[in-house]
Amino acid sequence: MNIILMGPPGAGKGTQAEKLVSKYGLVQISTGDMFRKEMKEDSKLGVIAKFFIQYGHLVPDDITIDIVRERLSKNDFPNGFILDGFPRTVVQARSLESLCKELGFKIDAIINLDVDFDKLIKRLSGRRVCRECGATYNLEFKPSKKPGICDICGGELYQRIDESEDAVKIRLQTYTRQTRPLIDYYTMKGQLININGDQSMDDVFKDIEKCLGV
Ligand code: AP5
Repeated sequence: MNIILMGPPGAGKGTQAEKLVSKYGLVQISTGDMFRKEMKEDSKLGVIAKFFIQYGHLVPDDITIDIVRERLSKNDFPNGFILDGFPRTVVQARSLESLCKELGFKIDAIINLDVDFDKLIKRLSGRRVCRECGATYNLEFKPSKKPGICDICGGELYQRIDESEDAVKIRLQTYTRQTRPLIDYYTMKGQLININGDQSMDDVFKDIEKCLGV
């Protein structure tokens, strides 16, 4: 089962991908996580990605498509994969279609998590991430047991560089301008499954399972 998870920043793509990974053994491919790893390592790609990410802009399509191509080419997904945060532009969607043909993959479901922007700002400003293992928390909706400390590995929790108030505003504008057109693109193709992302994390997951028929 190969899935695309779409939705605005903070819609819960990463949260739901984590649940799909643990229940169905799918492999999560998050372009955001891949860029953050490169930034942490201070690689050439990381330096370029940081330039765009810190201000809330998208990393250019050619760079993003290349890292996805490289990842999918490994073909190490016995149970399938979840594309979390890719594609984000129509150009990326078209490239993914060519890539799937080339590599012999089929996308089985394209899920869009729908959440109002007001709620997203609250979610994003409250998000904290573990510096060591990458686990995600939220000050209001999913607090860690000890403030500032990861429940899983004891690592320090931090706020992402793209979660300042200004960067969040630009991320939402970028989404509206560049990613929302994808909703029409996949709707016209009759492929889009819309899910109400403004429910508890468990209820969103139940709806996803219902739509997938698993
Ligand atoms: P990325 O890391 O993908 O960021 P994003 O899309 O902005 O998504 P987030 O990770 O912020 O949110 P999410 O939807 O995964 O929600 P989450 O589950 O974490 O990308 C970062 C940047 O990299 C981009 O801005 C761009 O610059 C670049 N990039 C990445 N992909 C790219 C591409 N394809 N092309 C070009 N550039 C690209 O949840 C968020 C918070 O809400 C958490 O605190 C969580 O606990 C909480 N939460 C989740 N679900 C619920 C719920 N149901 N109720 C209450 N709280 C909830």
